Amino acid sequence: MFLFLGLLFILIVCFYNFYWKRRLLPPGPIPLPLIGNYLELEANPPGYNTFEKWRKKFGDIHTFWLAETPVISINDFNLIKEYFIKDGETFSGRMQVGRQLELQRGGNYGVIFVDGERWREHRRFALQVFRNFGMGRGLMEEKIQLELSNMFDDINEAFGNDKEITLEPGPLLEITVANIINQLLFGFGYHDKKEKEEFSKMKDIISKHMRLATWPSVNFIFSFYPLRHLPYLKQTINEFWDTELIIEDYCRKQIEAHKKMMKSSMEEKAEPQDYVEAYLREAANGKNDFSEKQLMYMLFDMWIAGQETTANTLVFSVLYLLHNPCVQDKLQTELDTVIGFDRRINLADKNSLVYVNAFINEVQRSVNLLPLNLLHKTLKDVEIGDYFIKKNTVVVPQISVVMYDEKIFPEPNKFNPERFIDANGELKKVEELIPFSIGKRQCLGESLARMELFLIVSNFYNLFKVSPIDPSNLPSLQKTPGVTIQPQQFSCNLIKRF
Ligand code: HEM
Repeated sequence: MFLFLGLLFILIVCFYNFYWKRRLLPPGPIPLPLIGNYLELEANPPGYNTFEKWRKKFGDIHTFWLAETPVISINDFNLIKEYFIKDGETFSGRMQVGRQLELQRGGNYGVIFVDGERWREHRRFALQVFRNFGMGRGLMEEKIQLELSNMFDDINEAFGNDKEITLEPGPLLEITVANIINQLLFGFGYHDKKEKEEFSKMKDIISKHMRLATWPSVNFIFSFYPLRHLPYLKQTINEFWDTELIIEDYCRKQIEAHKKMMKSSMEEKAEPQDYVEAYLREAANGKNDFSEKQLMYMLFDMWIAGQETTANTLVFSVLYLLHNPCVQDKLQTELDTVIGFDRRINLADKNSLVYVNAFINEVQRSVNLLPLNLLHKTLKDVEIGDYFIKKNTVVVPQISVVMYDEKIFPEPNKFNPERFIDANGELKKVEELIPFSIGKRQCLGESLARMELFLIVSNFYNLFKVSPIDPSNLPSLQKTPGVTIQPQQFSCNLIKRF
């Protein structure tokens, strides 16, 4: 009897898992009960090959499963445009795992994981603040240049009287990028020894938080919260809460400091100097739904999103130059011809530096920062291909597959900035280069990141040449998986060019 019941149970599970739950969705790899396709993804990190294999086997629109959640993956550039731009509103929802936001933040707060009116209004406001800082006032460029000067001071101090030093570029670029986002959000950076130590601690916390946020067991707890007391799960979720609370506390303190400062300064400056100030002023004007809690989580999201993304891209730029010395020669020949050595490069130079732009494009394409893009959700019933897809289904524009698509970018694994330069020596506009994604959820920090990449890359490589410590043993290009991929730690030689 037990044997019969056992067999019947297995049959029902198989029928449900392998046929029933998949019958109305685009085809895709066969999921296992409870874990979906996690094993295949984990077996081949960071995931590009698995996504490409699925695309080849199941087509441009297919379904894979993260645990028990089906994800409809769109892998072709024109289809991504058709759904995520032409029908942008429908595809602008954001997937959250189980009761994630409610448990983590006590409700729908922040920008990355939020939908609806709050997301729309706060995204619009943040973009407007960044635009004001960036365009008319040039405050953004001013702050980036300021942090570049700080970086160059540190490097020059390390050089002393030498013309060549060995250093680890990672920490240097990380703190510069962190200082830039800090300046824009909070109005300060980490400069002296004590501040740098504080940053180093916070950086470790952020990295741990990001790692834990993608941990399958943390996601499992958000879906099955009562199980959080089980031994292993309890320890993991407690570690996650610890990092969450430290980051929240950090953001809360910055808000408090601003409130005090704004109260004590009798004369308000004509224009806000950073995002917190801009937000508090807007809130004081009685703007609907502007609260300190929402401000704290906006800061949390933008602060985290604005660091590893840009810093990792820059660290990979060093790696690609170490592996491709001819590219560095061409880059520096252009800088010598167009700029020279006696001045800082600024945004006004951007259009004259074709090879620098092509190089940055190729770095972003090759880095392919998010093997799996952030997950979206449909906000109403919709047809995708031949399938009727219900509201609240998880969908993803798979930008990493597009940027490694050999039909668009021949020999995608070859680092080749020339692919972005046309026969007349002009920069090609390649619309399939979409590292910031497209549509209504397109990266909120894109304009800032573009400015940072241009100003840091052009000025850094104008002043310094990078070279390997041992040319027969180049640092690895291997990518450590995560929400955004990470480079391995490495050191290289830095040589003063002038
Ligand atoms: C090289 C640098 C960067 C890259 C490649 C990048 C890429 C991305 C991508 C692919 C997304 C997801 C888009 C989607 O859901 O389809 C995203 C979202 C986001 N990014 Fe970035 N990003 C970068 C830098 C930054 C910076 C500097 C900030 C600072 C403010 C930032 C803030 C955000 C935010 C807040 C979101 C969520 C937007 C929303 O859900 O509405 N990013 N980014």
